[in-house]
Amino acid sequence: MSDDFFDTKKPWSFYKDRVLTHYLWPYLSKIRTRGAPILVVDCCAGPGRYRKDGESGSPRIIAERLRDLAERHPATRIRGVYIEKRAGYFAELRTNLAEFGDRALCIHARYQDNLAGIAQLAERASVFLYVDPFTAKELPFDELSKVFGLVHTGSSVEFLLNFDADGVVRWGRSLLRGKGVLVGALLEGEEGERDVEEEPEDSYAELCRVLDGDWWADVLARDEPLREQQERVCEEYKKRLRVLMPYVGGVAIRRKCDSIPKYHMVFGTRHPDGLLLMNDSMARTNQEALDDQFSDGFLFDTAPEGRRPDEEALVRELREVIKQNPGLRRPQVFAKYLEQDSCSAFARYPEKSLMAAVRTLLGHGIIIRRPERGAIDRAQLFLA
Ligand SMILES: C[S@@+](CC[C@H](N)C(=O)[O-])C[C@H]1O[C@@H](n2cnc3c(N)ncnc32)[C@H](O)[C@@H]1O
Repeated sequence: MSDDFFDTKKPWSFYKDRVLTHYLWPYLSKIRTRGAPILVVDCCAGPGRYRKDGESGSPRIIAERLRDLAERHPATRIRGVYIEKRAGYFAELRTNLAEFGDRALCIHARYQDNLAGIAQLAERASVFLYVDPFTAKELPFDELSKVFGLVHTGSSVEFLLNFDADGVVRWGRSLLRGKGVLVGALLEGEEGERDVEEEPEDSYAELCRVLDGDWWADVLARDEPLREQQERVCEEYKKRLRVLMPYVGGVAIRRKCDSIPKYHMVFGTRHPDGLLLMNDSMARTNQEALDDQFSDGFLFDTAPEGRRPDEEALVRELREVIKQNPGLRRPQVFAKYLEQDSCSAFARYPEKSLMAAVRTLLGHGIIIRRPERGAIDRAQLFLA
């Protein structure tokens, strides 16, 4: 990566940072009530601030939220950990976080080397991991799963990953070409492929390690457009993460209207409320991006992709989820719906729209609730 990457913040990075900003405060406010210490780890921190425009990077975004929380709730034990492997960026990081004092712990290392320590801390702290590397090579599934999988032992762990599906698909296709599995013309948008000669010997094994197996080879050998392959890879990747974390959702971040996504933000949590909270943060960012679209020419997601809310479809699709899963309570119904890749609902409908759709279904007698009275969250939902 060129050294001017951190000179000015790229338009699509603003959207990535907005997701983090919108999510952190409600997450921190909620998780604080658990009473456990809070640990937020920025695993791929970078220098913390962009050099020329002075914009905050994720470390400062996180540190400011943690400081706000500590000022409002002094008794809360709270720590930000910022890990950066490159010496130059690390030196800048320390300077850019100096004002946050002891609450900001900067570590010069590969974050993977700290996962065992983080796993230990997760036994008693609520942990949020933000993993935003330049490439998916820095997301070894087996190592991440040591922390993510802890939710099954009762730990409170959440993650937000920047998953470079585009890079993964190009990497995989390049490997398949090298093996002679993939012949034929390049697909749309594939012009930037790497020279197979440059792939190191162990590159195939490395990709399998990132994607938790070699399933991708079948997906990428198919004669399909690049963006469909990306979607399939993302869907399968999320499926694998769901083995570790009960609730996983994600959104594509694009550079321009209708262009191939730059990357995907993938989120995991043990609780349906966490998924709903992140869904609201991403839906809000999505809406802001749609509103911005004509002002700066950059888009996060667009109407042609069918991402604008469609209230009729929402009612229809929620009815189907309730039909397929009779007796679920409202948060679980919403979580199930948001996780269905076929509906592309995640980051499209905020919770208030989901709630309105349930009221419509109840009002029209299409679904019923048991018991009929009391808080709706306690009621089970059924098709009438
Ligand atoms: C995309 S940048 C992160 C930007 C940052 N999240 C922000 O918003 O300001 C990726 C950073 O992670 C660092 N990095 C990449 N792999 C890493 C690893 N395994 N451990 C720690 N840092 C890593 C890179 O040196 C780079 O500074």
